[in-house]
Amino acid sequence: MCGIVGYMGKKEAFNILIDALKRLEYRGYDSAGIALWHDRAIEILRRKGKVDDLRVAASGKQLKGTMGLAHTRWATHGIPSERNAHPHKAGEVVVVHNGIIENYMEIKEKLKKRGHRFTSDTDTEVIPHLINSYIEEGMDFVDAVRLTITELEGSYALGIMRQHERTLIAAKKESPLIVGVIDGEAVFASDAPAIIDLTNRFIFLEDNDIVVFKDGGFNVIDIKGNKLERHPQVVNWTGAMAQKGGYKHFMLKEIFEQPRAVADTLMGRVKEEKAQIEFDDLKLPDLKDIRKIWMIACGTSYHACLIGKYIFESTLRIPVETDIASEFRYREPIFDKRDMIILISQSGETADTIAAMKEGKNHGIYTLSICNVLGSTLARESDGVIFTHAGPEIGVASTKAFTTQISVLFMLMAHMGRLLGVMDKDTVRGLIYELKRIPHKMQSILDQASLIEEMARRFMTYKNFLYIGRGINYPSIMEGALKLKEISYIHAEAYAAGEMKHGPIALIDESFPVVALSPHDRTYQKTCSNIEEVLARRGKLLLFTDMPEHDMANRTDSVFIMPTTIYELQPLLSAIPLQLLAYYIANLLGTDVDQPRNLAKSVTVE
Ligand code: F6R
Repeated sequence: MCGIVGYMGKKEAFNILIDALKRLEYRGYDSAGIALWHDRAIEILRRKGKVDDLRVAASGKQLKGTMGLAHTRWATHGIPSERNAHPHKAGEVVVVHNGIIENYMEIKEKLKKRGHRFTSDTDTEVIPHLINSYIEEGMDFVDAVRLTITELEGSYALGIMRQHERTLIAAKKESPLIVGVIDGEAVFASDAPAIIDLTNRFIFLEDNDIVVFKDGGFNVIDIKGNKLERHPQVVNWTGAMAQKGGYKHFMLKEIFEQPRAVADTLMGRVKEEKAQIEFDDLKLPDLKDIRKIWMIACGTSYHACLIGKYIFESTLRIPVETDIASEFRYREPIFDKRDMIILISQSGETADTIAAMKEGKNHGIYTLSICNVLGSTLARESDGVIFTHAGPEIGVASTKAFTTQISVLFMLMAHMGRLLGVMDKDTVRGLIYELKRIPHKMQSILDQASLIEEMARRFMTYKNFLYIGRGINYPSIMEGALKLKEISYIHAEAYAAGEMKHGPIALIDESFPVVALSPHDRTYQKTCSNIEEVLARRGKLLLFTDMPEHDMANRTDSVFIMPTTIYELQPLLSAIPLQLLAYYIANLLGTDVDQPRNLAKSVTVE
């Protein structure tokens, strides 16, 4: 979603801001803008389209300034257009905003009655108007911002400048914002990859923090103006990690990074000798009385939850209830104090997942997050956190975050198995043995990527796909279908294979390819029967299995053989060929793989 960056220092701000905006592109956006402060004048440039369009538009102009704000906008209120792009200016105040101001209509009407004229359809524009009106009443800049913020309902990350003084202000509530700590310079952004080339020391701002940058330093204050202590944290990501490194797309790079990402996520945690899984600083509640585990997330992370349900229920025999975060709190879930909630999120900033965590906490339930981003809201505010060590995920379509989330769920299951006394040491040692072999097996799949590319070439022109699987393979094919639709814009539907004859089989004919995930597990025979049903209707079969002598293998030219593993770990392997299939089809069709239309990497509004 929207991306924000602000800079104040001795250097020319234009290139610093534009480079950071380029790094924020992955979040998804439809317009971009920049404001530069120079000698008590502010110049603003905005464009519909890409950051490169903005750069081109700036090339003929003399855009100067050592202080500035920049923004990528993902439209919520008002169509993507130059007039709705940020920054927005009223009087001498300029604002960039990420989030949604829920009471903007009310404020706008009030201001209109007082003679204010608005030039955009956005909710954001009320903010500079309000601040400017308080300045005109004689208020100091910081006080005007503080007072304005108390009137806003909703979520915001803000960057604010004023024409008549060299001060930069940032503020945050329910939308991410971080400050990069550099001597003598001020920089802030929506996330770390945007400014990782400038510093790896960050302050992860908390809700209601206001940061005032002035004279080469900064203060963090609360809404009443009281000074707050905020300590920087060092992030061990590097600029190179947020680059494509020779791959055509971030997504492809991230697919190929999975053996390393999973190995990094296991590192220091799996102790085969001791038959133990260790998580630093994780304090779980007393598990003896545990009644139920909830697993809640959105999108791909939700698919990890569904896989988590199979992993936990088949081994620990604890009931797991899964929920899509945007549905969860509206259906009045029935909690019990002995429950535990696991929230899964790559970004740790997904608004609905954060809201689900708050719902659980309000009911006194222990919340545990599985996150990829240090300092993210979910990681900070949940009772416990386990980090995935996937490194920055830039491609909008989640890949390595997904497989590292599953790895954490598997480790957590083994950890809890020991704590609950339902698994002996030999069982856990066996699980660890299999888990440690996963990165190597993932690599052997990646080494055969060209076979999947060939398959993609044969199927790229079809308009619809059905994905089928049973048991733990069902959420895996849901994820495979999501990957295909989000990056190739091809309609793909996932169905539990046994459910197919209750409706979707009506779709099957020779123009309808069916992706079947059918390893040699407890679901094998049943899935074979379902595949027979597809073939009987002349459906085209793409078979993904770990069994070279699969009963259906000689009935199609499109078979991909994966290595074998235990049932609970299969999703880690089957994810890869399905990601590759989606990637290669999208690439052949020429879509914008890393920034698919209408999608945002970090969904910070509900
Ligand atoms: C799909 C995808 C999204 C995210 C979802 C949740 O490829 O990336 O479906 O999984 O928006 O995001 P996080 O995990 O950051 O909470």
